[in-house]
Amino acid sequence: RVVGVLKELEESCETTVGRLRQVVDAMAVEMHAGLASEGGSKLKMLLTFVDNLPSGSEKGIFYALDLGGTNFRVLRVELGGQRSDLDPDVEQQPIPEQLMTGRSEDLFDFIASSLYRFVEKGNDSVQSPVTKELGFTFSFPVKQTSVSSGVLIKWTKAFAINDMVGKEVAGALQQALTRKGLNMRVAVLQVNDTVGTIALGRYHDEDTVAAVIIGTGTNACYWERTDAIIKCQGLVTTSGSMVVNMEWGNFWSSHLPRTSYDIELDAESPNPNDQGFEKMISGMYLGDIVRRVILRMSEESDIFGPVSFRLYMPFALRTPVMAAMHEDDSPELMEVARILKDVLDIPDIPLKARKLVVKICDVVTRRAARLAAAGIVGILKKIGRDGSGGITGGRSRSDVKMRRTAVAVEGSLYTQYTMFREYLHEALNEILGEDIARHVVINVTEDGSGTGASLLAASHSSSGTVDN
Ligand code: BG6
Ligand code: GLC
Repeated sequence: RVVGVLKELEESCETTVGRLRQVVDAMAVEMHAGLASEGGSKLKMLLTFVDNLPSGSEKGIFYALDLGGTNFRVLRVELGGQRSDLDPDVEQQPIPEQLMTGRSEDLFDFIASSLYRFVEKGNDSVQSPVTKELGFTFSFPVKQTSVSSGVLIKWTKAFAINDMVGKEVAGALQQALTRKGLNMRVAVLQVNDTVGTIALGRYHDEDTVAAVIIGTGTNACYWERTDAIIKCQGLVTTSGSMVVNMEWGNFWSSHLPRTSYDIELDAESPNPNDQGFEKMISGMYLGDIVRRVILRMSEESDIFGPVSFRLYMPFALRTPVMAAMHEDDSPELMEVARILKDVLDIPDIPLKARKLVVKICDVVTRRAARLAAAGIVGILKKIGRDGSGGITGGRSRSDVKMRRTAVAVEGSLYTQYTMFREYLHEALNEILGEDIARHVVINVTEDGSGTGASLLAASHSSSGTVDN
């Protein structure tokens, strides 16, 4: 029975190169559709109004807030006007869980208080009348009306604060800062975490064209020509381009290899029929897919002993713990045994069953990493950097001279989970072919999106590059 369940899982998670190429094509097609009209695709392809990326000449002192991943961060960066290794002061803490589902005022008061304490501890005065440019990474879908304003479209990941949907995000922050008596006049610039990441990516590597986050959630943004953003006729920027936040977590295609576990996970989630790609890829969900497979096996056989009640608890198995089992290289799989006992209350299972658990983790993670790779190639295809001459191009691969192309990647799943990272790179090579893949560089920008937001605050600063 167990063998049957595993076989079924493997088959339904299959990601042959052929299938991945279909996902690549679907991603590129959906990108076009999302750019063509509002609501034209499940990909929102949101305007960011970020139309220039850091060049290295930014100068001054900038603050940033970073909300939406595992940790909340407050940062202060001093930019010297020359490209250099940035060394921001950073303070980070996990967001108290009750704030993720409570009232927006409480969440923003928490953010304002953290900033207040941070500024107070440093060299700047909280009462300073000087305008400080504050970058704000807000890692959720926002319909922006400018680089510093926009309304929350919906919450994703573990956040659900109903009174905030449809409201001005920077406005809510500004009000909280005022309530707190933070007398700095803050010019808030608001960006998605992908956008902060592309900014830092470009600061370090001029060939950066896109950024991908693979952490609690997953998403990507890229540098697009404004004339390709058809839904926004007449959009003019000095650079002729703009960063587009794809919100690829909501991507969907019939080519995605979906299992009964994905369907159940989605149905039981607070946002059914939403964020389908994210639910197959990101850190918030992988552990829970694995839990569901173990539960099914446990119900259908006695390989895990009596069915543990913990297996019925949503999110009882978190992705970092799952990764630790997957990467257990001890011959007896002692770490797997320990985790099964301590976390899932499944004691004393034979080595054969422990190996089975590792195999399940492998199947689920491999699929996730390979789908993320297909997503990345989808973007490269859309902008004609996949060696095929673009979505409408008919040139053969050998005709195309491939330019060096860099993609900035960040998020805990990618940075902390070696097997995930390896599978992703392997799939990139398979899909692109080694000749093309050689020109595609993946740069890791750990903890970078907040720093990127402060760089953007600098490059979009009203005070220009004047010392402040
Ligand atoms: C961080 C960014 O480095 O990565 C966050 O600064 C982002 O804004 C996060 O959301 C994603 O990672 P995770 O794994 O914490 O969700
Ligand atoms: C979710 C959010 C998106 C964010 C991503 C990574 O998908 O909707 O805005 O970029 O998580 O944090």
